[in-house]
Amino acid sequence: MKISKMLATAAIIALAAPATMAATGANPLAWQNKALSADARANLLVGAMTLDEKLTVVTSYYGTQAEWNKYRDPQARRQSAGFVPGVPRLHFTPQWQTDAGSGVATQGVAVPDLQRTALPAGILTASTWDPEMAVRGGAMIGAEARASGFNTMLAGGVDLLREPGNGRNFEYGGEDPLLAGTMVGAIVRGIQSNHIITTVKHYAFNDQETKRTTVNILVDPAAARMSDLLAFQIAIEKGNPGAVMCSYNLVNGEWACQNDWLLNKVLKGDWGYKGFVMSDWGAMHDTVKNALNGLDQEAGVQNPKDYVYKDKLKAAIQDGRVPMRVLDDKVRRIARSLIASGAIDNPPTPDNPIDFAAHEAVSQTDAENGIVLLKNDGHILPLAGSAKKIAIIGGHADVGVLTGGGSAQVYPRGGSAVHGEGPSHWPGPYVYAPSSPMKALQAERPDAAVSFASGKDLDQAAATAKDADVAIVFVTQWTAEGMDFPLTLPENQDAVVDAVARANPNTIVVLETGGPVTMPWVDRVKGAVEAWYPGSKGGEAIARILTGKVNPSGHLPATFGVAATDWPRASIDGAEHGEETFDVRFSEGAAVGYKWFDKNGIKPLFAFGHGLSYTSFTQGGLKAAAKGMTITASFAIKNVGSVAGKQVAQIYVSPVGGGWEAPKRLGGFAKVELAPGQTKTATVVVDPRLLAMWDSAHPGWKIKAGKYRVTLATSATDKGSSVEVTLPAAHLPAGRGVAK
Ligand code: BGC
Repeated sequence: MKISKMLATAAIIALAAPATMAATGANPLAWQNKALSADARANLLVGAMTLDEKLTVVTSYYGTQAEWNKYRDPQARRQSAGFVPGVPRLHFTPQWQTDAGSGVATQGVAVPDLQRTALPAGILTASTWDPEMAVRGGAMIGAEARASGFNTMLAGGVDLLREPGNGRNFEYGGEDPLLAGTMVGAIVRGIQSNHIITTVKHYAFNDQETKRTTVNILVDPAAARMSDLLAFQIAIEKGNPGAVMCSYNLVNGEWACQNDWLLNKVLKGDWGYKGFVMSDWGAMHDTVKNALNGLDQEAGVQNPKDYVYKDKLKAAIQDGRVPMRVLDDKVRRIARSLIASGAIDNPPTPDNPIDFAAHEAVSQTDAENGIVLLKNDGHILPLAGSAKKIAIIGGHADVGVLTGGGSAQVYPRGGSAVHGEGPSHWPGPYVYAPSSPMKALQAERPDAAVSFASGKDLDQAAATAKDADVAIVFVTQWTAEGMDFPLTLPENQDAVVDAVARANPNTIVVLETGGPVTMPWVDRVKGAVEAWYPGSKGGEAIARILTGKVNPSGHLPATFGVAATDWPRASIDGAEHGEETFDVRFSEGAAVGYKWFDKNGIKPLFAFGHGLSYTSFTQGGLKAAAKGMTITASFAIKNVGSVAGKQVAQIYVSPVGGGWEAPKRLGGFAKVELAPGQTKTATVVVDPRLLAMWDSAHPGWKIKAGKYRVTLATSATDKGSSVEVTLPAAHLPAGRGVAK
């Protein structure tokens, strides 16, 4: 069973209540007029609905048959996350809801006919620093959702990587609000290009999984605006998601799904968000507070006795605790999102054929653009033609690549390549996409003799390595929803790397992890590649990078520290607490990730933004000018090496003389593809919010007059080149952002 979802135990009760109020308006189907705006249609629809019909639309039921699930609507799609009945009288669609960010998930159960393409993990897509790539990936998984009969995806994870051990970091977009917001917004745009909607989630500060339903995150409201909330705001601006999923945890003393500040004030007020808020599965607490404080749709109900809306909300409306207009607004928002996305006018049907080959090619391209070459001493990579004996060790690299666990778990075509490992129940077991890096490498290098050792036996691993020209160790860390993880590789894998590195000086490590891990062996190996969870064709992508068929261009969306003590909290708090709520204070405020490392002078193992290539680039000619409340920076990038490649140029901004939460912020970036010898210029416009501090006294973004340094760099620790620009004082109202 899903251990962290609210479970219901009581018996099933009858659900269907007869319509109690007569529909109003002359023609109850007038809302179907496609010539009208989504707003106008949603208004007409709400006007035509009875109270019971409205209540139907604001409640979603868990969609999967399970012994612990007390109610499943037979219309729910098999193995799905959620289902909201429609209103047949008004031809209003049911909502079929599926997880999540890497493709169509099946609630932790492997069902052969529901195998789908696994896009690489969200953190890998963020590592591409290529929004167009993210749009393509999103479009692919959205197409599979539609072909499987879903009109709602539960993708769009954008909580910042504050805790390197957060078990869901793999689902998210890294530690920086601009990068995460931009990349996740692009995934959302891609998904919704299929006339379906998706969420962004989990709003907000669901940055740890340990005791996620009782942890009370204490965060300074101004710092909140400049960190996780900014990531959400940017993702919403770029992606225009139909829904926002509020999270399980409390924020500053109130549960996120009944948090007036988060939902009414910030999201719907300041940001002018027009979509709807759905709860995480079972994250509701109090009918009236949920209703008044901004939750639109209660999601994941597992026992009709336990829902928070339906007749409890009906009673609250009838006795005046919740005004009818509040319910109307909820229904209007839900209807508007489904109408505006085209989900209603183009209803999805289940069981459509899927072009897996084409979709897996998208997944592979994403992987090839997001895998990060961390270290490459002596140009050990790409593998030289003279490397005729290649030893592969560990990580089940003979059969597949790892995926992340929990509700986002996609079962890739062909099923898992490994069985019987990890937790036997949700969020386990470990699932390996059947895409073997070893077989793919052998196919790329038919001239080489490729040998394999499982890594379970240190002596055998060392012996296999010793006998080879080059040894490639695959290390894995499975991470998953509902739990957090230490930064040390599990199962003695550090010792495997050590043993192999001692046996063979030409050792390369390929990591399949969901976030940063420590690498005590890093100085003893020549090469290191972070492959994250690389999806359905991850093995092929890794092989093509190792052989140089593909020139790596991924860059880290999160800092890798030397030790867990480098981060504000060396371990994740909560395990020791019981059922009571408890506080975790984000005392670092907005100084998340590289900002924290910078501010405290901590040298990372691998910096945010870091990523090597098989070619070399020079960046220069930086010019920057203040224009209104923004800075425009332009520069040139040249490929001075001998193979084609892609560079990620990064612009960092900082006030000369300081005054921000950290010395500098990422202000913009550009991924540029260059042939050998080619030069291109790029222009980056810095979002004014990244030049401002949140002003609590006069709510909005305050830019201080003065000199600002603009730095063109290749990572957060690269000194790069800088110019200075003078900005006048400015104040932006809360909702103002950049051009979409
Ligand atoms: C997760 C959500 C997910 C939902 C439905 C929850 O446990 O936190 O991300 O969308 O389940 O499966």
